[in-house]
Amino acid sequence: MLTRIKDIATQLAPRLIEIRRHIHSHPELSGNEYQTSAFVAGVLSSCGIHAEEGVGKTGVIGEIKGNGKDSRTLAIRTDMDALPITECTKLEFSSRQTGIMHACGHDVHTTVGLGTAMILSQIAQELPGKVRFLFQPAEEIAQGASWMVKDGVMENVDAVLGVHVFPSIPAGSIGVRFGALTAAADDLEIIIIGESGHGARPHEAIDAIWIASQVITNLQQAISRTQNPLRPVVLSIGKIEGGRAPNVIADRVQLLGTVRSLHPETRNQLPSWIEQIVANVCNSYGAKYQVNYGQGVPSVQNDYAITKIIQLAAEEAWGDDAVQVLPEPSLGAEDFSMYLEHAPGSMFRLGVGFTDRMINYPLHHPLFDVDESAIVTGVVTLVYTAYKYFLSDISE
Ligand code: NI
Repeated sequence: MLTRIKDIATQLAPRLIEIRRHIHSHPELSGNEYQTSAFVAGVLSSCGIHAEEGVGKTGVIGEIKGNGKDSRTLAIRTDMDALPITECTKLEFSSRQTGIMHACGHDVHTTVGLGTAMILSQIAQELPGKVRFLFQPAEEIAQGASWMVKDGVMENVDAVLGVHVFPSIPAGSIGVRFGALTAAADDLEIIIIGESGHGARPHEAIDAIWIASQVITNLQQAISRTQNPLRPVVLSIGKIEGGRAPNVIADRVQLLGTVRSLHPETRNQLPSWIEQIVANVCNSYGAKYQVNYGQGVPSVQNDYAITKIIQLAAEEAWGDDAVQVLPEPSLGAEDFSMYLEHAPGSMFRLGVGFTDRMINYPLHHPLFDVDESAIVTGVVTLVYTAYKYFLSDISE
C-alpha cells in the first residue's frame, strides 16, 4: 500500500505544486477565504468528493466513505487563511494581493489536504473507514476552528489529524510531539482607575500611570516567584493607553496583553491569580481596577496513540532519520485545539526548510518560503497515517 501511495503522490506532484502556487498567489485574509474555498470545493468535486461550502462561514468539508469495514471517522484538518503581510520574496508566483501573504504556509496545508483527498479517493475501496476533510478558515485570528465545530464538523469524528509547516526542519523530514505542542493563548485587559490632578501636586491625585507600572512589575516578578517554573506562564503586555497631557496626572490606564500557558490546571488558576495581584497593588494606593480575562484557544495536547501512528507511518515512509521527536512545545497558539475538545488527535510539523540555503526565514516573515518537495512528504504521511489509523485498534 505504501509503495502505491508513494507512486500516486509522485505522479500528482506537478499538479500539487501548481495548486500550491495558485493558492499562494491568491491569498485571502481570515474570514474572507471565498475564492480559496471555491477553488478547494472545485478540486474536491473533480475527484468525486461531494464538497460542502459555507461550513464555519468560509470553510469547506468533504468526506470519503471508504469500504465501510470500519465504522470510525477520521478528520483531517487543514487551514486556508493568509496574513496581512506584504510579500517580499519576488517569487514568480508571489502574492497578487497587495499587503496579503501566505506567510504561515497555509497554502501548503490546503494543498496537502487536497493531495491527501486526491489519493484517498483513488484508494477508497481499500480504506476501511471514513475520512472527513476540514478545510478551515480564519486560523490566524483563532476563530475558524470554533466556527467549524459550531457547524457540527466534529459530529461522529473519532480522531483528528492536523499538520503545520516548520521552516527549521528540512523538507523531507517531519516532527512529531507527544503531549503539549502549543500553548493556551488568553487575552488580558487590565484597567486602572485613579484620580486626575496637577502634575506638580501628585499627593492630591491617584496616579494611574505609576500604579500601572507597579502592576506590570508585580505581575512579572510574581510569575518567577509564585508560578511553578516547570509549568511555564508567559504574560506579555503589548499595549498601554492612558493619560491626557504631560502635566496632568492620568486617571485611567488600559493595559492589553496575552497570557500563554501549557498546563490546563495552571491555566485555570491564572484569572484569579492575576486579579489578586492587580487588586493588591491597586488597593495599596487607592486605585480602582477592572480585570477582564478572555479565554482564548486551549493548548494543543497531542494524543499519545495517534501521535505514535503518525510517527510509525512517517518512519516507514521516509526512514527513521527523517522523523524527529520534538523535545519542546511552542508557546505559540493553534486553534486545532478546539477540535481536540471533541476527539483525540495529533498535529505534526512538516519540514519545509531548504537544505541548500543559509537562512530559512521564520513563519510570518515577508521572506518566508518553502521547499515545495515537502508537499509530497506531507501528503504521503497523511494518507498513510489515515490508512494505518484504521488498522489500529484505538477505541473510540
Ligand atoms: Ni499557521
